[in-house]
Amino acid sequence: MIEADAAAGDIASDVFGPGLATAEAYVELLRTVGVEWGLIGPRESARIWERHIFNSVAVREVVAPGVSVVDVGSGAGLPGIPLAIARPDLRVTLLEPLLRRVTFLERVVSELALGERVRVVRGRAEDWGQEDGRFGAVVSRAVAPLDRLVGWTRGLRSPGGAILALKGSRAESEVAAAAAMLRTWRLQADVVEVRADVRCEATRVARVTALARGK
Ligand SMILES: C[S@@+](CC[C@H](N)C(=O)[O-])C[C@H]1O[C@@H](n2cnc3c(N)ncnc32)[C@H](O)[C@@H]1O
Repeated sequence: MIEADAAAGDIASDVFGPGLATAEAYVELLRTVGVEWGLIGPRESARIWERHIFNSVAVREVVAPGVSVVDVGSGAGLPGIPLAIARPDLRVTLLEPLLRRVTFLERVVSELALGERVRVVRGRAEDWGQEDGRFGAVVSRAVAPLDRLVGWTRGLRSPGGAILALKGSRAESEVAAAAAMLRTWRLQADVVEVRADVRCEATRVARVTALARGK
C-alpha cells in the first residue's frame, strides 16, 4: 500500500474485520478492471477507499439484521458489495440495467466467492415489479432524485422495511421536495448521518419508511 493508504488500511481492518481480504480484493478489481472498463475514473483510483468504500459501507448502521437487501442502480457494486462484505447476515441483490456493469458485477461476485448471498440481476427498478414487498432494505447511491427513486422502488420495500438513499449534501432538500408525494403514499422520510468509522466523513442517508399509524 502507498503511504496515503496506510490510514485507510487501519480503518478498513476495523470496519471489515474477517472480511478485510475480500474488501481488498474488491478494491483491486475496481482499480484494475473497473478503471479499464470505464466504470471508475482513473483519477478515482487513488481514493477508492475514502470516496467509495467507506462512504458506501457506512449505511450498514441503518440496515436491520438478517434482511434481504436490493441495491438499485448498483453500477460497479456500490453500496451493495461493501455492505455484503461487512454484513454477512444479509442477502443482497444487485440490480443494474447496463450489460457491461452487470458483467463486472458477476465477475466480482464470482472472484470474491459471494455467490451464496449475493446475486446480480439485470433490470431497471421501475420494470422490476415481480419482487414486490420482499426487501427489508432498498439501498441506492447516486441513481436518481429521491422522489423519482421512491416512485420506482416503493413496491420493493417490505411492510416494515426502509428505502435508504445515500445522498450527500442534498439529502434534506430532496426529502423536502418529496414530502407531499411521500405523504400520498403513506410514507415518511428523515435524514440520518452515518459513518464507516469515527475517522471517516459522514454519509447522509435519506431514510424512507411507512408513516406511523394515526399520522
Ligand atoms: C451514477 S451511477 C451510480 C452507481 C453506484 N450506485 C455508485 O454509487 O457508484 C448510476 C447507476 O444507476 C443505474 N441506473 C440508471 N437508471 C436506473 C434505473 N431506472 N433502474 C436501475 N438502475 C438504474 C445506471 O446504469 C448506473 O449504473
